[in-house]
Amino acid sequence: MKPQVLQLNPILVPAVNDQLASLYQVHKFFETADQQAWLRQHGAEVDAVVTGGHTGISRAMLEQLPKLKVVAINGVGTDAVDLTYCRERGLPVTATLGALTEDVADLAIGLLIAACRNLCAGDRFVRDGLWEQYPAPSAIPLARRFSGMRVGIVGMGRVGRAVATRAAAFGCPIRYTDLRAMDDVAHEFVPALADLARGSDALVLCAAADKAEGIVDAAILDALGPRGFLVNVARGRLVNEPDLTAALAAGRIAGAGLDVFVDEPRVPEALRQSDRSTLQAHRASATWETRAAMGQMVLDSIAQAVAGDRPAMSLTT
Ligand code: DGY
Repeated sequence: MKPQVLQLNPILVPAVNDQLASLYQVHKFFETADQQAWLRQHGAEVDAVVTGGHTGISRAMLEQLPKLKVVAINGVGTDAVDLTYCRERGLPVTATLGALTEDVADLAIGLLIAACRNLCAGDRFVRDGLWEQYPAPSAIPLARRFSGMRVGIVGMGRVGRAVATRAAAFGCPIRYTDLRAMDDVAHEFVPALADLARGSDALVLCAAADKAEGIVDAAILDALGPRGFLVNVARGRLVNEPDLTAALAAGRIAGAGLDVFVDEPRVPEALRQSDRSTLQAHRASATWETRAAMGQMVLDSIAQAVAGDRPAMSLTT
């Protein structure tokens, strides 16, 4: 009998699904009508869980899976899994560390350029035939230059560092904040987020949300100011969303590029309607290259766990 894998999220790379199906008995939980009934009947048979960084798995559900050998997160965010409980239980939780760094950093820079150069508004202007209707160059307001902007990075982990490398190539002076200064980072460390915001033209959020919920509030946005841009490729919960919508509506910041939101897939109407926001549907790691690499790491973690080995990517054991 093949080991049983419970899959909580769709995987978009066919080759990864094929591999999973050939090696394991896979149950697609997201297609299950009565999930509680399924857990009562089959929970005790599950060997491995595959989930997304944003979806995670609840402690209540973990408690219904007594034979579980691994929670393989197809992503890097661990904030939706109770790591303390998993550590106590001796249960490996793995993540695809390093696999999505470049893509997330690419999207951060893309969102920042899109926001300060009004790329989406420009696209709509052409697409909707407005250029022919209003051919005067003054029909579109001038934008802001990205090259040379003072970039403040919040969270200098893998993604933060990759954003810094890219921004440096655009001639941007870079400063950062984190829980502590990092010896191996040459950029200036700024302990207080408000100070970083005050001295930045763009604030890029790359931090884990576990210890930083709501850190970007009205005071931070006001410190960033009416010429400042906010980019979030980390977690929606880092930002006080009502404060952000109010700041955008009043022009208290210049714009925001957002890939993540507090209550995905629901995005506040005010953010959707704002001319100052550039929005994505939590797509930062969504390329073929990265998703294939992530899928391979998930496959490796499950294989190691079901063989009785400690998964190399385990964060809890
Ligand atoms: C992650 O890896 O945490 C991404 O945000 C997807 O959830």
